[in-house]
Amino acid sequence: MKKKILPWLTMIVSVVILLPSCESDENEGNEEMVSSYNETESHKMGQNCMSCHKSGGEGEGWFNLAGTVYEDNKSTTYPNATVKIYDEPNGVGSLIGTIEVDGLGNFYTTNNIDFGNGLYVSVSGDTETIFMIAPVTSGQCNSCHGVSTDKIWTR
Ligand code: HEC
Ligand code: HEC
Repeated sequence: MKKKILPWLTMIVSVVILLPSCESDENEGNEEMVSSYNETESHKMGQNCMSCHKSGGEGEGWFNLAGTVYEDNKSTTYPNATVKIYDEPNGVGSLIGTIEVDGLGNFYTTNNIDFGNGLYVSVSGDTETIFMIAPVTSGQCNSCHGVSTDKIWTR
């Protein structure tokens, strides 16, 4: 009897030992990535970044908020703008986060953002800060902007 139980025991023990390494494999492809001024490592301006930069997607890093800023002509991208996130509309309330737009006009972050019932965003250029009036519950900015509404713009 004892001799039959032993192989099973070794199997169970090895499964338990292997499990933690399987878990870290699932996170492969996600790494911390946050845009910063003047950087030119991003690409695909105007596209919905999270169609690829998501769990199981082909893009490196799973973004929680990303998009592209344009000039008011809505065709030239606006480099080095600043995206701010607040918990109340029009820049009142607490500042929850600031994301630097890169040198190509793209912004992205893998940092965790709790959208809850909605957060409020603004985009500042050199001379103006433009607010989105409605709350955002999704960080996939380019899933609406350039699709169902104007591209994100500032001046
Ligand atoms: C069609 C799929 C796809 C879309 C859409 C996409 N990406 Fe990527 N992205 C990738 C892949 C694949 C890589 C890794 C290989 C490479 O660098 O091209 C990558 C890499 C990157 C990198 C890292 C480059 C490096 O050198 O480490 C950044 C930054 C990035 N993407 C930003 C963005 C931003 C911002 C958007 C949206 C404006 C976006 N991506 C849209 C697929 C995509
Ligand atoms: C569900 C669709 C949707 C998503 C997602 C979305 N927006 Fe908007 N956004 C709109 C609409 C519609 C308007 C125009 C009405 C308003 O201001 O509420 C707008 C307006 C804006 C404006 C002011 C006008 C402009 O284009 O500059 C900014 C800035 C803006 N959004 C930034 C963002 C950012 C940054 C994100 C990602 C965190 C985002 N939006 C996500 C739909 C969306």
